[in-house]
Amino acid sequence: MSNTFLPSEYPIVAAPMAGGATTVELAAAAGAAGAFPFLAAGYKTPDALHDEIFALRTGTSDFGVNLFVPGRPRVNRESFAGYARAITDEFRAYGLNPNPDPVDDDDAWGEKLALLREDPVAVVSLTFGLPPASEIALLKRAGSIVMATVTSPAEAREAEAAGVDALVVQGPGAGGHSATWDPDRRIADGSTADSLGAAAAASRLPLVAAGGVEAAADVQDLLANGAEAVAVGTLLLLTDEAGTSETHRRALASGEFDETVVTRVFTGRPARALRNGFVERHAHEEITAYPAVHHLTRELRKRAGAAGDQDRLHLWAGTGYRKARTEPVAQAIARLAEGL
Ligand SMILES: Cc1cc2nc3c(=O)[nH]c(=O)nc-3n(C[C@H](O)[C@H](O)[C@H](O)COP(=O)(O)O)c2cc1C
Repeated sequence: MSNTFLPSEYPIVAAPMAGGATTVELAAAAGAAGAFPFLAAGYKTPDALHDEIFALRTGTSDFGVNLFVPGRPRVNRESFAGYARAITDEFRAYGLNPNPDPVDDDDAWGEKLALLREDPVAVVSLTFGLPPASEIALLKRAGSIVMATVTSPAEAREAEAAGVDALVVQGPGAGGHSATWDPDRRIADGSTADSLGAAAAASRLPLVAAGGVEAAADVQDLLANGAEAVAVGTLLLLTDEAGTSETHRRALASGEFDETVVTRVFTGRPARALRNGFVERHAHEEITAYPAVHHLTRELRKRAGAAGDQDRLHLWAGTGYRKARTEPVAQAIARLAEGL
């Protein structure tokens, strides 16, 4: 048993990855291999989340659930319509038209909270912001350890003051959406070790470090720098148990993409992805409007994924994507745990 507050053999976390990559099979296999696994509740219906929790629990109760915290909608209709016009040609490739009206949603926050209160899990982690302290208290009272994902010392301080038990400190190299609470913020380059140090100076809570981890040496460095555990996402995207789409898998493994970049073009929130044609063509037009831009581009991305179109798909990837391998997740975790 590792020394952390998380009940797993190794101080390694299989990070939540919404949008398909995290599956019950991935979480179960990561847990069996000694990591602490998360389910990703983002974009899922409460029923689907319920079913995943039920299925994973047949093997273990040592897992977490990650929730997207809804923000205040702040969509400028004019700039949204302008962005929809700007990407119209991308839709034409599939005989589609973009919807110029912004769609909002709160990712069924209330229902998911109710589900986790009635049927608590070991850990609940929160991403994109903080709910009211009263809701954090409800999850804690239900018996869950509550973690907030933070990207700056200010977020770390605020999360501690709101009563969470621990922090996930996400560095700028992380794949997928930045967890930043301010989607307008520019995600500056930097190391996860630096983010960790800054969070440790701002908060006394236990810290899980995430972002850009490529190998066991990174895990050991972050542990030596004060992390209680280290989370990995991108390194698991090509594992056999991951639900990563074929188009995404092929792009990651192809060697054709030589860079990742933080972009808002796909969802209206900063996210790190392989730099493909869609990113390049629209980088100068991107707007901050999540989840409206996510809904705007959703069908286009679905079609692109199905058609094997790497040029228009959101190819989420952290800076360590070259080290992701096609293999059982147990092998990926064993490699990261070498020397622990
Ligand atoms: C495809 C993908 C989906 C992700 N989805 C989520 C999510 O639903 N919730 C979340 O908190 N973080 C999400 N992340 C971020 C991871 O939880 C984690 O912070 C990140 O993967 C760590 O950096 P790495 O990718 O360099 O290992 C996602 C990352 C990827 C690559």
